[in-house]
Amino acid sequence: IKGAIVNIKTGELVSEKHRIPTPKGAKPNDVADVIAEMVTFFKWKGEVGCGFPSIVSRGKILSANNIDKSWKGLQADELFSERTGLEFHIVNDADAAGLAAMTFGAGKDKEGLVIMITIGTGLGSGMFYNGTLVPNIELGSVPYKKYKYFEHYAADSARKREDLSYKKWGKRFNDFLKFVEFLASPDLIILGGGASKKIDKFKDQFTVNVPVVASEFENEAGIVGAAIASARKL
Ligand code: BGC
Repeated sequence: IKGAIVNIKTGELVSEKHRIPTPKGAKPNDVADVIAEMVTFFKWKGEVGCGFPSIVSRGKILSANNIDKSWKGLQADELFSERTGLEFHIVNDADAAGLAAMTFGAGKDKEGLVIMITIGTGLGSGMFYNGTLVPNIELGSVPYKKYKYFEHYAADSARKREDLSYKKWGKRFNDFLKFVEFLASPDLIILGGGASKKIDKFKDQFTVNVPVVASEFENEAGIVGAAIASARKL
């Protein structure tokens, strides 16, 4: 779990990034303890933006693909606010990464349909039309072949779990890109998340027509985007 103080006018981090290991099992109360530790570390007294790896609607967690099931239905913004006394704005993590890319990065001033895809344990997606976020699009949660979710086939965790070469996994990820291209006809796809840094190892496998670029934000996109979400009171 990472945090930093962000200048939302420039998208720059004003502090060092602070990391606290995710507590084992990542149950709500334990995560809330870490959130409280985080704001205390920064002596922060303002609003807090938070990217979260699930569908989030008005602070409520609505899905739990890769997290403890007890999150589902939880009003997480209230839990974190009660614990810290601060106002929280929680958004989907890929939506947050996309907000950063659209405001300060590869998606800046891009018209039309832009889709952010984060590659990590899951496959996150953020959709923007003429710069406006269409929240909670879950492209990685669509079933694919024998897989319950596309992300079980094509996320970075599938590469690790099945010990796939970048070439083999890249073909799988390209299947996902083809699906996204067919479904939404985007003008641009931006890749984020840990694996996007290694794009040179798998971009040869891409056969889509839509331009695909890596987000230059890398690990900071989620933090910067969460701060933007907070400032916009999303
Ligand atoms: C979740 C998404 C999330 C993605 C990346 C998926 O398992 O369903 O909401 O954005 O993981 O963390």
